[in-house]
Amino acid sequence: MRVDGSSNSLLITGGAGFIGSNFVFYLLKHHPEDRIIILDALTYAGNLPNLDEARKLENVIFVQGDIGDKELVGTLLRQYKIEIIVHFAAESHVDRSIHTPDGFVETNVLGTHNLLKMARKIWLEEGLDLFPSQPYSEVPCRFHHVSTDEVYGSLGPDDQAFTEQTPYAPNSPYAASKASSDHLVRAYYKTYGLPITISNCSNNFGPYQFPEKLIPLMIINMLEGKELPVYGDGRQIRDWLYVEDHCRGIELILESGRTGETYNIGGNCEIANIDLVHELTCLLDSFCPSSPYRPHASLISYVRDRPGHDRRYAINSQKIYRELGFDLDYNFFDALANTVLWYIENESWWRDLMNEEYSNWIASHYERESFEREDPKLI
Ligand code: NAD
Ligand code: TYD
Repeated sequence: MRVDGSSNSLLITGGAGFIGSNFVFYLLKHHPEDRIIILDALTYAGNLPNLDEARKLENVIFVQGDIGDKELVGTLLRQYKIEIIVHFAAESHVDRSIHTPDGFVETNVLGTHNLLKMARKIWLEEGLDLFPSQPYSEVPCRFHHVSTDEVYGSLGPDDQAFTEQTPYAPNSPYAASKASSDHLVRAYYKTYGLPITISNCSNNFGPYQFPEKLIPLMIINMLEGKELPVYGDGRQIRDWLYVEDHCRGIELILESGRTGETYNIGGNCEIANIDLVHELTCLLDSFCPSSPYRPHASLISYVRDRPGHDRRYAINSQKIYRELGFDLDYNFFDALANTVLWYIENESWWRDLMNEEYSNWIASHYERESFEREDPKLI
């Protein structure tokens, strides 16, 4: 992980979730010498089977627990001499944050604060004992906080893409909780000198994404012949980033990002939801030629819009390109096709997640009265 090639001891929070588990695979592939401690509470979105292969390895240790648990976090940092924390753990679904915001404040704000507090205590106050061979000022630690472009709010059609200087204007409880955590992370750098970096990325997609999010939801609904619920007029724009490109960006920040800095990571791929859904229906038509649900576009159904729905996100990633030599390795359409194939080929993975909790969420969110069908001409 380090530029000098030496190995690290990393704590990955939220490593059983979508991006966290992809990051664990990425580390194992590119930095097999590192020791990886995964801390995950295994909420509804955390899925231990994501890590089955990783957990067979000696250098991977999984711990089920909450980032808000002070004793546990302290023990892990000390016991494994953690030098790098990559913080993915969060409540991450905007729609759930609208139904029940409390958990978002608890995990995203208070949980993050607990991690910061313990990192400060152990790295900055006990650091000399923990890393005896290093002078105090050179304890080689890093707290990397994974955040979102949603903290910047919503763009109009002609607005410039978000830069690292764009003022924060979060609109959903999810975005507000992530914005709060970003501010705390930054404040721990400014006030206490905790060595931090932050990345704000756009919408990720790829394997192991929980089925409630747009892309997997649409793929799975098509495979099951269910309606494809498009919010409002479907003209909201997101900038899609393939998860492995995101992992590469984080790796670069850990290796050579400047302490205290924020880096935006985008996919350079703005697309309206309805166009993305049409692209997915075409992919399903071609991968499943004998499906009784062809043409899959006939399953599209416009439903009542999300309250406070951000109209457009777009990321300006020039800083990470310029300073750290970042580039996208994946073409959006190839990565999307591979993602669709992954869900087709891994049906048992997503079927196992369709438990009572998930069915209740789908029922309460999509089948309640306020989500009745909309006539797009009237929106
Ligand atoms: P996810 O919901 O798939 O996974 C979150 C993981 O965190 C789960 O494994 C869950 O069990 C764990 N977790 C939740 N609360 C916890 C707690 N209190 N203690 C310990 N573990 C806990 O999320 P994701 O899509 O992988 O997102 C990861 C991070 O990236 C989040 O911080 C999110 O805000 C950020 N992000 C995601 C996207 C995206 O498109 N998915 C985009 C921008 C930023
Ligand atoms: P989502 O995957 O929830 O990510 P985010 O809200 O963080 O951007 O949603 C992506 C876009 O798709 C967003 O504009 C909302 C829209 N969407 C739908 O139209 N229908 C759906 O059923 C879902 C889950 C999302």
